[in-house]
Order: sequence, then structure tokens, then C-alpha cells
Amino acid sequence: MAQYNISVNGEQHQVDAPPDTPMLWVLRDRLGLTGTKYGCGIAACGACAILLDGAEERSCQLPISEVGSKKIVTIEGLTRDGSHPAQRAWMENDVPQCGYCQPGQVIATAALLNKSPKPTDAEIDQVFETHICRCGTYHRIREAVKQAAKETS
Ligand code: FES
Ligand code: FES
Repeated sequence: MAQYNISVNGEQHQVDAPPDTPMLWVLRDRLGLTGTKYGCGIAACGACAILLDGAEERSCQLPISEVGSKKIVTIEGLTRDGSHPAQRAWMENDVPQCGYCQPGQVIATAALLNKSPKPTDAEIDQVFETHICRCGTYHRIREAVKQAAKETS
């Protein structure tokens, strides 16, 4: 067991945990941030995506000991009022079906737009080919990503 100071959604948290504890479980079980979902546990589905210093990270494979001073943002902290271009585009395009994968999809969009405000189709494909949606909302996701990119650029 060790003690870690981590920044999540703009707040500092002190967490006692074994060094190999995945951030997914720290967020969900210790901090009550259940918007970040468990899907595969092997960094293959994207349900657990968070922002780490603005870039997408799979929290199921991120040990708390590797976070250091990097800033974590979860779906709960992306904005307080749902005003991020990705969140607005998601609502306008009625993207979710069951909703389970959607926090990860929105976080992935935010990370993509941080890196590339005008993403090409190839860049979008590259990000979303590893974000699984069992409900098959891929077409609406793509529409929403493009709409969010238009607002961002
Ligand atoms: S639960 Fe982390 S990528 Fe699937
Ligand atoms: S909306 Fe159901 S898994 Fe994606």
C-alpha cells in the first residue's frame, strides 16, 4: 500500500492503494466516478477512456503509480454543464443507444480534437476502430465527431 496525490477533474485527491491498482477502479470505487466504464480490462474496448493531460488513456491499464502529477479528466469533469462540442453533438445526433460505451466515445472525441481540431477521416478511423459499441452506433458517432470538429475548428 502507498499513498498517492492525484488530480481528478480539477480536484486533488489523496488515495491509499497498492501501486498496481488500475485507475479505473480508483475512479469508480474510491472516488465514486462511475461514468468511466469497465468493458474488457485489457485496453481493447475504450469503455474506460479518460483524459490524461488531455490525451486519451485507457484507465483499466493505467496503474495509479504511473499517474504522478498528470491531470485526469473523466466524463463527469469534461464540462460541468455538458457544453463541450462533443457533448452537444452527441445530444443533437441522439448518438447513444444503451449508453454504456458512450462516455468513452465522448472522451475519445475530446482527446482527438485536442490533438487535431480538424481530424481527417483516417484520423477518426484510427481512434474509433478501438472503441467498441455493442449497439452499433458507429454511424451516429462518426456524424457527431464531425459536427464537434466543425464547431471546434
Ligand atoms: S475496459 Fe479499458 S479498454 Fe476496455
Ligand atoms: S450504445 Fe450500447 S454499447 Fe454503445
